[in-house]
Amino acid sequence: MRLLLIAMLAVAAPAWAAAAGADGACALAPTAGLPRAEAYRQARDLAAVGRRMFFDPVLSASGAMACASCHSPAHAYGPPDGRAVQLGGSDMRKPGLRAVPTLTYKQATPQFTEHFHNSDDDGDESVDGGPTGGLGWDGRVDRGCDQALIPLLSPFEMANADRAALDAVIAARYGADLRAALGEAMPQGPLAALAAGARAIETFEQEPEFYPYDSKYDAFLAGKASLTPQEARGLVLFEDPAKGNCSHCHISQRGGDGTPPQFTDYGMIALGAPRNRALPANADPTFYDLGLCGPERTDFRDRPAYCGLFKTPTLRNVATRQVFFHNGVFRTLKEVMDFYARRDTNPELFYPRGADGKVLKYDDLPPQYHDNVNVEPPFDRHPGDPPALTDAEIDDIIAFLKTLTDGYRLR
Ligand code: HEC
Ligand code: HEC
Repeated sequence: MRLLLIAMLAVAAPAWAAAAGADGACALAPTAGLPRAEAYRQARDLAAVGRRMFFDPVLSASGAMACASCHSPAHAYGPPDGRAVQLGGSDMRKPGLRAVPTLTYKQATPQFTEHFHNSDDDGDESVDGGPTGGLGWDGRVDRGCDQALIPLLSPFEMANADRAALDAVIAARYGADLRAALGEAMPQGPLAALAAGARAIETFEQEPEFYPYDSKYDAFLAGKASLTPQEARGLVLFEDPAKGNCSHCHISQRGGDGTPPQFTDYGMIALGAPRNRALPANADPTFYDLGLCGPERTDFRDRPAYCGLFKTPTLRNVATRQVFFHNGVFRTLKEVMDFYARRDTNPELFYPRGADGKVLKYDDLPPQYHDNVNVEPPFDRHPGDPPALTDAEIDDIIAFLKTLTDGYRLR
């Protein structure tokens, strides 16, 4: 994995000078041409600065909010509490739009592409997996250095006034350390500290502590632990195409090259999650968070086929969360599982009724996009059918999901 990091950092990027005024914070290529030992030292030193930045509330306009406020290390770098969306901004009272994802197991996230072809040994390269990858629920940036600027500048997150103001704060607090880490690669001129700092945060996010692979399931795959009968039943249901079919999207087996499963294929999928009426943004009945087609992402606003699609999240550490799905509409794993089992047999359990008494299925998606919603198993049922999973089977799957939490100690 360390090799992966170095390979990533070594990817040639445009010269700093050419990109100084550019939008991206990822223009800096500090390790290009460096001997391996030096590249290693630089990555280590940059990660150390990035770690301090990640926990530093001074990088927010309120002085009260760090990256770690939302991405809590005690919760697998996911939300610290049961809020569907966190509060931020200069007054710490502005609500966000989406649930906070975990930052664990993002290290292998592929760059966003509209046409994903699986190049893994046992994947079929001719199959087009559709829109896949990128960071965020809508995959709108590819790199951690670009991503970091989103919360740093968002008016409802860390709310720095603009790039210049943020650059000044980073220069004052971290300029010397960034220069020491980067040496001659330290950029000069306007926004230099911003670019170096964004790179430091990205480097920190690639540290092995974000992907320790030390869950009970990892121990099981390595032959060092056995699953309880209930966990084992849950795994079978998770992988059975006629039952949970979960592993179709949340991959549970090692890749052809032996890499551990990430529990996501990074695919963009519409599941038709119910509208979360508790979100302040949703008080406006004309507002819809349509994921890949906007409004946060702007390049696919004219692509109706992409409306309602969100990135399949990893299920590693999912049992440490208290809110689920992009809009945080579900509060327990049981609620999530009921949705998978009964969305199509008992839609009235999840969606409100209209004035005529009819259930408004997929109520968080305007009707013209309803055809985008996934209808593969377990979503292949109809009213009157038995649910895709019984309550006992749901309990089994939840027991299995709990084996995906890191920090399992071998006894
Ligand atoms: C106010 C809460 C909040 C703060 C503060 C915050 N984030 Fe996030 N983060 C989120 C939310 C919400 C998302 C999902 C955003 C989306 O999909 O539009 C997210 C997404 C991400 C992602 C993409 C994860 C994925 O699943 O693809 C990364 C990486 C990330 N944040 C890093 C950071 C860093 C670094 C900082 C500090 C510079 C930070 N975040 C500060 C709430 C926050
Ligand atoms: C067709 C692909 C697909 C299948 C099959 C699938 N999922 Fe998902 N899963 C997703 C997507 C996409 C999301 C995010 C949806 C959203 O936020 O709107 C998700 C979200 C989740 C979440 C919430 C995670 C979080 O961080 O909020 C859990 C838990 C989950 N799935 C478990 C399962 C289980 C268990 C199964 C099998 C019963 C399953 N999934 C089957 C694609 C899939």
